[in-house]
Amino acid sequence: MPETIENWIKNRKSTFVEGLKEGSKIDDAVIEKLLENASWAPSHGLVQAWNFKVFAGNGVKRFFKVQQQIYKEITPADKFVGFKYEAYSEKHKRVSHIIAIIAKRDPYKRFPAQEDLVSVACAVQNIYLSLQAYGIAGYLSTGGVCYSQQMKHFLNLEAEDAPIGFFILGEADESFQRPPRMRIPVGQKTEWIKE
Ligand SMILES: Cc1cc2nc3c(=O)[nH]c(=O)nc-3n(C[C@H](O)[C@H](O)[C@H](O)COP(=O)(O)O)c2cc1C
Repeated sequence: MPETIENWIKNRKSTFVEGLKEGSKIDDAVIEKLLENASWAPSHGLVQAWNFKVFAGNGVKRFFKVQQQIYKEITPADKFVGFKYEAYSEKHKRVSHIIAIIAKRDPYKRFPAQEDLVSVACAVQNIYLSLQAYGIAGYLSTGGVCYSQQMKHFLNLEAEDAPIGFFILGEADESFQRPPRMRIPVGQKTEWIKE
């Protein structure tokens, strides 16, 4: 049904840490469902480059601690934001699970690395779309810490593997209001060629 897919796509949304409930708890079984749904993403030649590392329980606190340390290590003094550094110590209170999403380079290099990345991005979208169905919330977090050598080391990645981002997950704090989500009309980004 067109309306059904439109609703699912348009209602998909990011919920940032401040929009998650303190003490959020998601069942591990729900995370397994998200991963299963992620794995039905398309990939050229069925390379299926996605790999996941799930942080749960005390692992969540440990993950944010590592993020905090790496942030301190890699951020030049003039770019260092004190409250951002401090905030890492608080995040675990609202976060139930973190899924680290990795594009594992196809060992046979059958297709350009870009194709591995695109297929993993499709897996990310499957997770995003699944959130509303399971009544949970979250968003994809990326940035300098995610792409750092230190993070690659922490995640035990090989040189050609790419960390894509971290899906930060919890229960929604229904009292938190996000400003309305907007999009540039797609007509402004489309060219039709008919001749
Ligand atoms: C590749 C990618 C990277 C993102 N990285 C971040 C991030 O580091 N921090 C953040 O707050 N949101 C991040 N987001 C989420 C965006 O902020 C979010 O998708 C955007 O604000 C639109 O909101 P919506 O997802 O609710 O439509 C990322 C999203 C994608 C797809």
